[in-house]
Amino acid sequence: MSRTVRGGRPLVYLDSGATSQKPTVVLDAERDFYATHNAAVHRGAHQLAEEATEAFEAARATVAAFIGADSESVVFTKNGTEAINLVAYALSNAGADGALDGADPEAASRLRLGPGDEIVVTVMEHHANLVPWQELARRTGATLRWLDITDDGQLVPPETAIGHRTRVLAVTQVSNVLATHHDLTPYVQAARSHGALVVVDACQSVPHLPVDVQQLAGGGVDFLAFTGHKVLGPSGIGVLYGRPELLAAMPPFLTGGSMIEVVRMEGSTYAPPPQRFEAGVPVAAQAVGLAAACDYLTAVGMDRVAAHDQVLMRHALGTLASRGWVRVLGPAEPEPRVGAVAFTVDGVHPHDVGQVLDDQGVAVRTGHHCAWPLHRRLGVTASTRVSFGVYTTTEEVDAFVAALDTVPAVFGLAV
Ligand code: ALA
Repeated sequence: MSRTVRGGRPLVYLDSGATSQKPTVVLDAERDFYATHNAAVHRGAHQLAEEATEAFEAARATVAAFIGADSESVVFTKNGTEAINLVAYALSNAGADGALDGADPEAASRLRLGPGDEIVVTVMEHHANLVPWQELARRTGATLRWLDITDDGQLVPPETAIGHRTRVLAVTQVSNVLATHHDLTPYVQAARSHGALVVVDACQSVPHLPVDVQQLAGGGVDFLAFTGHKVLGPSGIGVLYGRPELLAAMPPFLTGGSMIEVVRMEGSTYAPPPQRFEAGVPVAAQAVGLAAACDYLTAVGMDRVAAHDQVLMRHALGTLASRGWVRVLGPAEPEPRVGAVAFTVDGVHPHDVGQVLDDQGVAVRTGHHCAWPLHRRLGVTASTRVSFGVYTTTEEVDAFVAALDTVPAVFGLAV
């Protein structure tokens, strides 16, 4: 994207962790759907409705393949937050009388939660992978526990929170603040050994790393959520992967049209997954746009995307290391970091840092980045975060650091 901001300065967009910019092929795919095939999916007997349905289901197949899944195990949602809420609400809905009638008994037994059961998260979760679990605990009487981090941003060992009472482990693959890319294997194995469900927030990993739901954490995970708009796709679409046997047993979250099998005034039965979890007219243009984004990234190659991210990370951390007045949150080493560098500047509020950067055309995020408990844990009220996309260059990182170097003088600080 070539545009200027703030009186003609070239834009340096370092806020891809919040949302990515879009390649032309994504804009074209969404526009072409609306211009040529627009109709309500899974309804209507006319040719346009057929074309729209085919485009939507083809998009599902592309997105599923992008994360190593089968089409039937991929549900389209509004965003990553809704994908996680879908699981949390389905689990509490599973407690209603008759909700699991006819479900496979083994899968059904994994979906029941109540007093004495524990839901485990981590202190570094984005609010989207924390608040839904707090609410699930409140609705079911289960207890919420969490894994802490070390002072340099690594997760503490699994046994500090995961045990025989654990029914759900909900964990991010990459922190949106610390940028740590944890090896989830010991955590997932510990949860699995107790029969707990594993839910992975992949919103910050899917844009930067190859992710395969069957291989992740040495044997796959039960659910994985990510959002379209961070992975070069449109806003308004998220993805939930679920193990087929669990989706097949799960009661719905949202109800209404599209997700039913038979409706009578006395009650209704529900369609098989994924339709059971897609109430209302599906988000077809957004799905087509997201599939175009996946195709784009596949053509680039996710290994190359990850390698490019490492170059940016190494460059950013290496450059910031010589500035003693900058405190980087999370590990000082480029590995195991992905996608972002959050930091504080001694004596300057993060919002003021963001303002000085913005005045020079550098777009960053400031605040707690929807990870307020993590900031408390780190002993800071807020931070400034630069985050990368596949299109970010080392020259843009240099432009950011040059702008950052003006901050101490603007606030009259000796460094
Ligand atoms: N979750 C997004 C972020 O971390 C908005 O910035």
